Amino acid sequence: MTARPFEALATGLGLPPAASVWAAGWEASQACFPDPLPGFLTTAELAATCRRIGFSTELRDVVLGALPEVTSDPRLCRLLWHLYRRLFVEPGMLKDDLAAWPALPLAAMPHADLFPAFAYLAGLPQIEARYRERSLPREVLVDTLSDLELWIREHRAKTGRWGLSNLRWLTNHFSGNLLRIGRLQFQFATSRYPYHAWRQPGTGRVQLLADTDLRFSADGLRAGSAPELPLAAPYRRDAVAVYGLPIAPRGHSLPEPVALPMAEWTGCLEPGDPVLNLHIPAGSPMAVEACGESFRKAGKLFPKCFPEYASRAYVCGSWLLDPQFEGALGPESNIVRFLREVYLFPLADASGRQTVERVFGTPEIDLATAPRDTSLRRAIIAHLERGGVWRAGGCVLFPEDVAGWGTQVYRR
Ligand SMILES: CC(C)(COP(=O)(O)OP(=O)(O)OC[C@H]1O[C@@H](n2cnc3c(N)ncnc32)[C@H](O)[C@@H]1OP(=O)(O)O)[C@@H](O)C(=O)NCCC(=O)NCCS
Repeated sequence: MTARPFEALATGLGLPPAASVWAAGWEASQACFPDPLPGFLTTAELAATCRRIGFSTELRDVVLGALPEVTSDPRLCRLLWHLYRRLFVEPGMLKDDLAAWPALPLAAMPHADLFPAFAYLAGLPQIEARYRERSLPREVLVDTLSDLELWIREHRAKTGRWGLSNLRWLTNHFSGNLLRIGRLQFQFATSRYPYHAWRQPGTGRVQLLADTDLRFSADGLRAGSAPELPLAAPYRRDAVAVYGLPIAPRGHSLPEPVALPMAEWTGCLEPGDPVLNLHIPAGSPMAVEACGESFRKAGKLFPKCFPEYASRAYVCGSWLLDPQFEGALGPESNIVRFLREVYLFPLADASGRQTVERVFGTPEIDLATAPRDTSLRRAIIAHLERGGVWRAGGCVLFPEDVAGWGTQVYRR
């Protein structure tokens, strides 16, 4: 098949109108279409990719089984080549608007939902080259890209079909913007949280202060059922001290403003500073020792492989950082044990949506019939039945405090 205008291909394949986002760059990609086929569409190369990326045998067989559905239709081969180039060449996945990418209609091929996964797999050599340039261990590559299978399985759990829908999230992994080291994922980012952190080098103490204009409710949180208090203490600093409303390491504001003398305290995190954003992938429990090991390894790996990246802290915003879990789950819970090792801070989201979605698989549940098979599910339901709300929370951990992991360093 010779190159056809994108519109003709879109009509022929029955693509939805939203597929017009793919039109840009079509002619350029078709001009370099490798005849007769891109190497990544051969069985041998795809099997090798599945092995190098660490796919399970089950998923490898599914992907290899679906390959002829693509290769038997020259239009799909050309579209896949184009999408591969959109992700890995021009404009590049971090610049492309993947949220606007439509799904391939099921009529185009039986495993249509897997189509974008083929495009990601095609880029494995590029991401491998990037890892080599940075002398990153193979193990980190395989662990990082293991999220592809995880999200393919998530798609299957939700739809019953093998496929990939969370394209945006995976741009992080395939662009080198996120690395999985042991149990945790670390993403290059700037701190987007409205808190300033100060350290007293003499004692090692860390104090978070709320940013200007941040309002809290009577319970020290930023949202929920308690009434909002008037603005207590705008954050400011002068030659003598830094002034503001303190946040306790357990994740709530304290009632009285403080002044930290400049002679004793040094700033260690400002909004906008470079940080490593934490994520906890699904797949296994988050044993607190394994998390500590991840931080220790990250503390060595990032300065060695990314010496120019001056990350100031590890930060995270998540449903599982709601301090209420401390009262709702037993002390042996990994979530509770994690909460005690980090400096918590309040976030404004009290919708509880992410909490319910990540724990029940859907953002809306019927309290009467929702499953109560784990202590977390029981705790979430019990709290909602009492009229409580679940909130997202945030946390920070400083590299210099990782040595104290396991000793509740911010609470001592
Ligand atoms: C984060 C995660 C690994 C924590 O799991 P964990 O280490 O087992 O956590 P805990 O030890 O605190 O779990 C306490 C209990 O809740 C259960 N539990 C934990 N996460 C659960 C979930 N997402 N859904 C249902 N039950 C869950 C555990 O099995 C355990 O049950 P039990 O006491 O009845 O034996 C897990 O929730 C998960 O994989 N979530 C999806 C990924 C995610 O949300 N990441 C955070 C986004 S940054």
